[in-house]
Amino acid sequence: MSHSSDGAGTKPDEQRRFRGALAMFATGVAVITAPRGQGAPVGITVASFNSVSLDPPLILFSVDRRCLSLADLCESPRYAVNVLGEAQHELSNRFAKANSGKWDGFEFSTRDCNSHVLLPGALATFECEAYAQHDGGDHVIFVGRVVRHQARHDGRPLIFFGGEYRALDERLIAA
Ligand SMILES: Cc1cc2nc3c(=O)[nH]c(=O)nc-3n(C[C@H](O)[C@H](O)[C@H](O)COP(=O)(O)O)c2cc1C
Repeated sequence: MSHSSDGAGTKPDEQRRFRGALAMFATGVAVITAPRGQGAPVGITVASFNSVSLDPPLILFSVDRRCLSLADLCESPRYAVNVLGEAQHELSNRFAKANSGKWDGFEFSTRDCNSHVLLPGALATFECEAYAQHDGGDHVIFVGRVVRHQARHDGRPLIFFGGEYRALDERLIAA
């Protein structure tokens, strides 16, 4: 069913329609991680990851101002983007819940406590230095400068579309 919006309707109604329209843009799913001085690292699932610049190498993602991790992320000099593979939807759900048990029983690797936190099995990882933060309305836009990246080119991505996880189907046009 298609919907157009003329801005009429109640605010929650209009927001729901806006979200529904945005959900037509298929994305991958990533977990942003950042080391915390004490205790478990920051970990938050995002679909807002995107590339920005090749030179310098910049990426972005946006974080809802209501997220519990926001303050720590804003202060962190470094963070990592972990791009999830199609088998990692449970990991996506784990880091999409606002609770303190996100890392319970979970193995994660840091080279040291001031280093990046990388999730095993990720399709790609981008280790970033904090580069800029911008006002994004009810979100904060983070721009990171990539200092190191790795990718597995044999894996398949986790896709988020229409509010649901999907798997990549097949090539439309053979290369
Ligand atoms: C597939 C998916 C994509 C998401 N993308 C974002 C996003 O881009 N930005 C955001 O702020 N929250 C996003 N969320 C919601 C956060 O992951 C969720 O609010 C999380 O609980 C935040 O954790 P925190 O409150 O402990 O910081 C997404 C959730 C899912 C399942």
